[in-house]
Amino acid sequence: MPAKPFFITTAIDYTNAPPHIGHAYEKVLADVITRWHRERGRPVFFLTGVDQHGQKVQQSAEKAGVAPAEFARDITARFKALWAKLAVDYDGWAETTDPRHIAAVQEVLQHLHDQGDLYKARHSGHYSVRQEQFLTDKERNEQGEFGPEWGEVVFIEEENWYFRLSKYRPWLAEHIATHPDFVYPAFRGNELANAVAKEAGDLCISRPKSRLGWGIELPFDRDYVTYVWFDALMNYATFAGYRAKDGSSLPDFAGLWPCDAHVIGKDILVPAHGIYWPIMLKASGVEAMPKLLVHGWWNLGGAKVSKSAGNAVDPDALADRYGAEALRYYLMRDIATGQDADFNEERLRARYHADLANDLGNLVNRTVSMGRRYRGGTLAAAPADKSEDAVALETLGTEAARRFDIAMDSYQVHIALEAAWELIAAANGFVESSAPWKLAKDPAQSARLDEVLAVLVEASRLAAALAHPVIPKSSDQLLAQLGFAGNLSVAWGVLAAGHQLGEPTPVFPRLDAESNA
Ligand code: MSP
Repeated sequence: MPAKPFFITTAIDYTNAPPHIGHAYEKVLADVITRWHRERGRPVFFLTGVDQHGQKVQQSAEKAGVAPAEFARDITARFKALWAKLAVDYDGWAETTDPRHIAAVQEVLQHLHDQGDLYKARHSGHYSVRQEQFLTDKERNEQGEFGPEWGEVVFIEEENWYFRLSKYRPWLAEHIATHPDFVYPAFRGNELANAVAKEAGDLCISRPKSRLGWGIELPFDRDYVTYVWFDALMNYATFAGYRAKDGSSLPDFAGLWPCDAHVIGKDILVPAHGIYWPIMLKASGVEAMPKLLVHGWWNLGGAKVSKSAGNAVDPDALADRYGAEALRYYLMRDIATGQDADFNEERLRARYHADLANDLGNLVNRTVSMGRRYRGGTLAAAPADKSEDAVALETLGTEAARRFDIAMDSYQVHIALEAAWELIAAANGFVESSAPWKLAKDPAQSARLDEVLAVLVEASRLAAALAHPVIPKSSDQLLAQLGFAGNLSVAWGVLAAGHQLGEPTPVFPRLDAESNA
């Protein structure tokens, strides 16, 4: 039987507004983890997509004067184009208006209905239009009001369908207590445990069609559509093949499930992914639970990045200005997974110049140029009797590769990058201390020059291979220039006698004056 792939998914993005930097961060993070697994020889399946139903989309469509389906389709196209531009290379694409998804969600609803987990009840209360949920006194602030985070709050009375969450709450509390790896990082797991202990009540999973038409119809009560979160959360299972029909071209659920990393932002852990989602699975008869990887937020000047605040950061424009690879690198380098960070375009620029152009780009450029100048581009193997400084760099490189993988294993991409850049700094230091330009002038130093060049090519190659998951296209170019096209080995000692170098061309050119604006 083939090994179960590492199954990674992200939240599916709302199609009520175009993508911003927060969406880009999450996709790139998942893509980097995916690429890292794949490059180390492990099978991976990366699922992502868009959340197309619900009141937010219906409202945005109304404002734009188009049908919700058309609105969702246009925004979906913008997300897809951005992922292509940012080299976010997913295996499965989830769109919640997909008939295969709709059919599976309706089956689950019918199943829950038939086993008595759904009931109909009349409820009156305050309802947040923005968050698409009923509010209770718990949601009131210290002044006894519903704060601005809830947007427009209206009082409504209506009959709806409810899901017996409370029946499964003891099971969930137990699951959280006995599975410390359910939520990463651990402090978010504690937050969830506290929320589960406090939460009571069931979940309203329907909306009357009179109020919201843009959703999946309840199969047992045609006057209602299902709550957008119930629909959206199911995507992780339906697009992994759960309840898929023969010939659906969806994956084999049994071979893929459970999900090893659900990449989500901290705002959607409680209650959606930490409470509703595991209970939905459990009630549907899916016993194996996913693991949640909860990241922090990119803020702008300390405030939330949001369209409504008028401070949206457009990742598309940033990629045009600095290049997709620079944006990917910055988004991975300047945040600690799990924590928040402040987005700063100046830092993106500075990182591009310092880390990519000066450190990595320059190392490869001068290594290849010297190899061509002093040896016509054909290298000898490093001698068996190694110099002390060559051994030191080799040890540092091997250690950097080990530390890189340890950090990636716990999703700390910025620490992995730090390890790779320590190797780059050490290799640049080695250029200065070994001074190949002096060695080249002295025929007695010929063997030493061979060694220095071989060690530099080895260090450059390893650094480029380590950086590959984060900057795949630039790394491919660097590796080709080093004569190692497609070689992503992260072991030291790949170079053999007679190795041919490629052409040195700057991969990270200086940003032009126009983009200094
Ligand atoms: N559609 C729901 C998720 C349904 S999953 C079954 C949703 N969509 S969203 O478009 O609002 O957010 C998508 C993801 O982007 C979420 O994981 C969210 O946390 C993340 N981010 C949104 N803004 C963000 C930042 N400013 N920074 C980092 N991530 C942020 O929620």
